Amino acid sequence: MSTNTKYNEWQENELSTSLNRFPERKEEFTLHGDAEVPRLALPENIDDDYLEHIGFPGQYPYTRGVQPTMYRARFWTMRQYAGFSTASESNKRYRYLLAQGTTGLSVAFDLPTQIGYDSDDPMSLGEVGKVGVAIDTLADMEALFADIPLDKISTSMTINSPAIVLLAMYIVVAEKQGIPADKLRGTIQNDVLKEYVARGTYIFPPKPSLGLITDIFQWCSANMPLFNTISISGYHIREAGSTAAQEVAFTLANGITYVQTAIEAGLEIDHFAKRLAFFFNASSNLLEEVAKFRAARRLWARIMKNRFEAKKTASMMMRFHAQTAGSSLAAKQIDNNIVRVTIQALAAVLGGTQSLHTNSRDEALSLPTEDSVRTALRTQQIIAHESGVADTVDPFAGSYYIEQLTDSIELAAEELIAKIEHSGGVVACIEDGFIKRQIEQAAYEYQKEIESGERVIVGVNGFQIEEEVKPDLLRVNPAVEEAQVSSLKNVRQQRDEAEVQSRLAALQVAAESGSNLMEPIIDAVRVYASLGEICSVLRGIFGEYRD
Ligand code: 3HC
Repeated sequence: MSTNTKYNEWQENELSTSLNRFPERKEEFTLHGDAEVPRLALPENIDDDYLEHIGFPGQYPYTRGVQPTMYRARFWTMRQYAGFSTASESNKRYRYLLAQGTTGLSVAFDLPTQIGYDSDDPMSLGEVGKVGVAIDTLADMEALFADIPLDKISTSMTINSPAIVLLAMYIVVAEKQGIPADKLRGTIQNDVLKEYVARGTYIFPPKPSLGLITDIFQWCSANMPLFNTISISGYHIREAGSTAAQEVAFTLANGITYVQTAIEAGLEIDHFAKRLAFFFNASSNLLEEVAKFRAARRLWARIMKNRFEAKKTASMMMRFHAQTAGSSLAAKQIDNNIVRVTIQALAAVLGGTQSLHTNSRDEALSLPTEDSVRTALRTQQIIAHESGVADTVDPFAGSYYIEQLTDSIELAAEELIAKIEHSGGVVACIEDGFIKRQIEQAAYEYQKEIESGERVIVGVNGFQIEEEVKPDLLRVNPAVEEAQVSSLKNVRQQRDEAEVQSRLAALQVAAESGSNLMEPIIDAVRVYASLGEICSVLRGIFGEYRD
């Protein structure tokens, strides 16, 4: 069959279906002077090799992107990770960001919330509201989303070990806004495996953690079909110092573990796979990052089709969020960070991201001020509206270097995944330290290159200046902790204590019996049981992970 037939088929099927749902932003895309910008640049001869390795966007193996029209129909979601202090303070920042043009929410929780302690727990001392928003009970979540219509926006929540509790609170907040769970869009990070090797906010041992993650897959595929149930993250693995190929390998190996666990729990791959999402780092080497995203997308599609025998095309699509590399931000000459973030954001867009967070110039020093987060957002808007890269799909396709680098990153990742599998799989490689050692070795080599001057970081080990100016930074007022503790005390005084205790007892029974915990936790948060109280029931049954 002539290969052009394949192109015609793609136009008649994937492309027209997509255009019906999301017409393109403009009738036609042109350069200044009216030369037309093609939707998809193609080789003269579309041969079998092209079809097998590169293909068409919105079609297996998705090398050129998950949507046939990509940003010609819909820009990536501009989704700034934000949250600090109390829920009402964070709510103000979300409404500011929405007013400035962000198109998705992304909640940062403080450390006590992330590791399942209430703000009045001794373990929380000094951390309440510091690196994210403090959430203790449903009352805080109601304040967090006040005057934000949850049926009109998608919300990402960066929460892992206690993800099931925050998801339950989100569902009840929406319920109180009159929005049913099956209308809610968003993502819960819910990816604990990378916490053990890179990010550190783990609570329970791997097995019970995987059980909670599978509970969310199961419950959401039946009740919350638009919500992404996990954001399998490579971001923090790269931030910890891994190479690009390791980032792909360890992330996809974690993905394989989640899929395997869900299948072993009896879930149907084509019922839950569509809502698996990913999260990658957008680092400074632009060409390597573009190739990395294309390689990851193709490798995941092949794994889902060939290994897990997924039948639905949506099960093979890797949809991902990207965040520019926090670890690349310099604390000196901080305006230079705007340039770094621009390069990294361009890499994410040229690599086909679905959602993007751009770091702010001052984030090596503190949480971003309103001014610096606005510049970070404007960076995305300038790339979207002025650079032209959103007007044609996967423009780097066919580049000798990009295609070779895409192939070599895919191969390196595939080999590393095979090595992990031969060593007993991800959990075994976490427990014996293999993955952590790989990352630490890569980090050490990178740092040595900087210290030797072989790798120049402008303003840091080259082109330094004597700096006088101290930029104004956002500082979280320590009084926030006191305010949060007293508001938690009020909630405890006003709630129906007998109801709370009976819901916590019911949760205990459910957890001991190994049944799905989503409903019992929804029942508990609805009567204002706190995150800490719920996690303490679970700690009592699952125990705690010790690195
Ligand atoms: N044609 C047709 N349809 C299109 C389209 C096009 N061109 N573009 C988009 N669409 C459709 C999509 O198919 C989707 O519809 P569906 O869900 O019914 O299929 C809808 O429009 C929305 O599009 P996306 O799903 O592409 O975009 P979202 O923004 O909704 O979702 C995601 C993106 C990656 C799938 C999702 O998981 C997400 O938003 N992730 C964000 C994760 C995040 O923000 N994490 C922050 C972590 S911060 C952190 O951990 C770092 C800290 O520790 C320092």
